[in-house]
Amino acid sequence: MSVPIIRTVADLRRVVTGWRQENLTVGVVPTMGALHEGHLSLVRAALEKTDRVIVTLFVNPKQFNNAADLAAYPRTEHEDAAKLAPLGAHILYAPDGGEIYPESFATTVSVSGVSKGLCGAHRAGHFDGVATIVTKLFLQTGADFAFFGEKDFQQLHVVRRLVRDLDLPIDVIACPTVREDDGLAMSSRNVRLSAAERQAAPKLAEVLFAAAKQLSVGDRVEKVLAEASKAIRAAGYSSVEYLELRAEDDLSPLNVADRPARLLAAAWLGETRLIDNVEVVHNV
Ligand code: PAF
Repeated sequence: MSVPIIRTVADLRRVVTGWRQENLTVGVVPTMGALHEGHLSLVRAALEKTDRVIVTLFVNPKQFNNAADLAAYPRTEHEDAAKLAPLGAHILYAPDGGEIYPESFATTVSVSGVSKGLCGAHRAGHFDGVATIVTKLFLQTGADFAFFGEKDFQQLHVVRRLVRDLDLPIDVIACPTVREDDGLAMSSRNVRLSAAERQAAPKLAEVLFAAAKQLSVGDRVEKVLAEASKAIRAAGYSSVEYLELRAEDDLSPLNVADRPARLLAAAWLGETRLIDNVEVVHNV
């Protein structure tokens, strides 16, 4: 069994129109490939909720602020298709570059507010690139539901906001972060870690979970974050790009954990930038 691969918008629309004539619901799982169990969990969630599932695969140059990072991004379409087939995904949409950014493409979707700060402060243009490609993929697929992982928590907020602001007829479904047995959040970037870095990597999640527990019982935010940042660096991370407490519902910065919140971090392990976030339950 293999998953059919579609390369053009015209072919995609033909298939989706056929599904619509049969009154079938459509789900989309946007990816940049290098699929891991985190992506597959989104595909399973989509298959449970919708009749037909499109997985998209496009390494989007507009969301990379660093040419080396774009060049190093793993490209494994053949393996990705092999992983999708047994799940029963209906289509892998892996468009040619020109189907997404035709010559003289001149439009950018830019979401203010939730795009600022956190990753937005360190990756110039990243969320404009994400918002633009996601809008295109929603319009090209015409899906009813889109599935995103909570691992990219700020991205999830950006996508929700653009769907709301532009009245896009699609529901965004958030799915929990999938972790390795040792707690490391699954990411396509994990394959870049050396053996020693891979051993140190789970400390980020461990520290975040411990800090979230302290915050949920009312420990002082400033103190908890300072100690957590120190512990991440002590584990071998060369720098902590950000470590912040933000409101769960609108990502506004919090100095006290007095409402449902997320603790979000980005940190560098050698040449690899890892991000993670955990829920902070409001108990006090
Ligand atoms: O999360 C990702 O892999 C990408 O940002 C996305 C949503 C597929 C857009 O390119």
